[in-house]
Amino acid sequence: MKVRKAVIVAAGLGTRMLPASKVVPKEILPVVDKPALQMVVEEAAASGIEEIILLLGPGKELLLEHFQPAPLLERHLEQRRKLDLLEIARAPNRLARFTVAWQSEPLGLGHAVLQARAAVGDEPFAVILPDDIFDSPTPCLRQLLEHAEATAAPTVALMRVARVDLSKYGIVAVRPAAGRLWHLTGMVEKPAPEDAPSDLAIMGRYILTPEIFTLLEQVKPGAGGEIQLTDALLALAQRRTLYGLEIEGIRYDLGDRLGFLTAQIGFGLKRPDLAPQLRQWLAQMPPA
Ligand code: G1P
Repeated sequence: MKVRKAVIVAAGLGTRMLPASKVVPKEILPVVDKPALQMVVEEAAASGIEEIILLLGPGKELLLEHFQPAPLLERHLEQRRKLDLLEIARAPNRLARFTVAWQSEPLGLGHAVLQARAAVGDEPFAVILPDDIFDSPTPCLRQLLEHAEATAAPTVALMRVARVDLSKYGIVAVRPAAGRLWHLTGMVEKPAPEDAPSDLAIMGRYILTPEIFTLLEQVKPGAGGEIQLTDALLALAQRRTLYGLEIEGIRYDLGDRLGFLTAQIGFGLKRPDLAPQLRQWLAQMPPA
């Protein structure tokens, strides 16, 4: 199967990142100097995705603007012959085609994905949660797509998490398939540690088939009183083969203060223009 479209879910209120997210959508907050949203669009484009469906909520129009021309800024840079900066300013627009879908009320991730139904149409698609960003030799979405395009089966990203973190994620029950690949036999959204079926957590990348929309229409509010994507995935797993692939790479949770902070340092240390001085600064920090 060929996956051309990705839905990026950016409808949430970002309350975990207040006060930074009070007037600025959290997805525009940078990792070093690049908005998290641009990082995941770049990941999608590098993975072969052609069309991005931005799933937005009220007050998040700004996110689309980041991927549109900025005539005043571009003219200013052109007149001053700042061509390298002009290139940086224009780069986001060229990454993909963009469309927008809306979730008018925060009724859960599953509900948000359902709002993209018309924009997705009757074809397989990817879902990206921009809170999760990866530092990996092969882009995370590409790792999933390589598998899903060969099997034509829906596939979700997995990573092992510590026991204290189990209740932050969708946790899966599995049967081995091959290597890092697992058959998903069950899943539960944000379980108490003693109820978690494994230590494998769903990360924010999914390859799905359009039948998920019918299941999303049927699921009842679950964890947190929200329509959960995990509950529709469980219904899907009961009907057909659903895979989980353990992702190779480092993952940062930008929706969490510590994750946001470690992402700045992790990605900062990868930047040749910043790494030597950042390393020096870290080395001379007094011990706690
Ligand atoms: C969502 C999903 C959860 C998944 C997580 C990954 O939760 O519902 O299953 O493990 O993303 O980041 P959220 O972080 O939106 O609460």
